[in-house]
Amino acid sequence: MKKNTPRSPRPQLPPRTVSIVGTGSYVPPRVVTNAEFEARPELQTTDEWIRTRTGIRERRFAAEKENTSDLSAEAARRAMAQAGVKPEEIDLIIVATITPDMPFPSTACLVQHKIGAKRAACFDLEAACSGFLYALEVGQQFVAAHTYNTVLVIGAEKLSSVIDMQDRNTCVLFGDGAGAAILRNRGDGSHGILTTCMGANGEHADLLKMPGGGSKHPATHKSVDARLHFLKMAGKEVFKQAVTAMNSAGTEALARCQLTGADIALVIPHQANLRIIDALAKRIEVPADRIYVNLDRYGNTSAASVPIALDEAARSGRIKSGDLVLMVAFGAGFTWASCVIQW
Ligand code: COA
Repeated sequence: MKKNTPRSPRPQLPPRTVSIVGTGSYVPPRVVTNAEFEARPELQTTDEWIRTRTGIRERRFAAEKENTSDLSAEAARRAMAQAGVKPEEIDLIIVATITPDMPFPSTACLVQHKIGAKRAACFDLEAACSGFLYALEVGQQFVAAHTYNTVLVIGAEKLSSVIDMQDRNTCVLFGDGAGAAILRNRGDGSHGILTTCMGANGEHADLLKMPGGGSKHPATHKSVDARLHFLKMAGKEVFKQAVTAMNSAGTEALARCQLTGADIALVIPHQANLRIIDALAKRIEVPADRIYVNLDRYGNTSAASVPIALDEAARSGRIKSGDLVLMVAFGAGFTWASCVIQW
């Protein structure tokens, strides 16, 4: 990696109108270690394989009665408490998820009821692991346009409900959790979102999908027997696409703000595989101590991964007021997104 010295002086930054004024996250208490998978002889896997090929040591699985809306509501309560925002002040709730409680009504409506945000409009957004950053961009548009004052954006998943516990290629990778952020215009112009980039390529949709449960393969005995209601992934191909898309989304966001990796206090990448994160760090020339990693504790929580990491980083003091933060994600679709924010 090249020598990485901070640029001085920092370039003129574009105006910022929309800030994250509070974050919250929640992971279910049940810890599932790699040893639990190793203990199942039919999987033929080991803690060593999982750790060295992915970086994951353990993940959280929600209880049977704890659904995506419950995880979301708890993360939202924590974000509201931190921001000092009352439920009735929320104008809009967007939940990014690929594991809604059910196909309809939206998980956002269920969350609205659970947290008592009676005035809020609600919808779900589906962009897989890029979902939170997509939702952040959609939410910020409403605040920037003065349509709404207070927007609650959530990324939440109960992936344990869609992983095939007989498929060692995927079952060891994913976990459950939720993260939330509250968006407002702080009115000082010096904190907030600088840029968000979003992209997609539907050409590779088949490489990562859950085929069953939609209009193409509604639930039938046949579809259940064929295990169509579980996540399917061509890991090696997805890996290659992820590295390329994460790298270009990261560099695009930096270029739009005329920044380099040296200006960034902390990178918050989607937590899918440590080797994908390392490739991004190398590409944008940011040393490991400025990359946030919690993949070892939670695995891949899809849309929840970036907001859980953001909340942990903010609460633990890894991000300070004025710091520039780069968030980058990649997911099924394929989709990708990145965001630079001044904290
Ligand atoms: N335990 C032990 N062996 C395993 C295993 C497991 N849990 N999972 C797969 N293997 C085996 C494979 O069957 C394969 O065996 P073979 O060579 O006999 O066929 C071997 O390990 C190598 O598999 P390969 O797919 O080449 O491994 P990899 O180094 O690419 O790592 C992933 C596999 C899934 C960890 C990796 O491809 C990956 O992270 N992909 C992207 C995942 C991702 O980011 N998904 C979400 C996008 S948001």
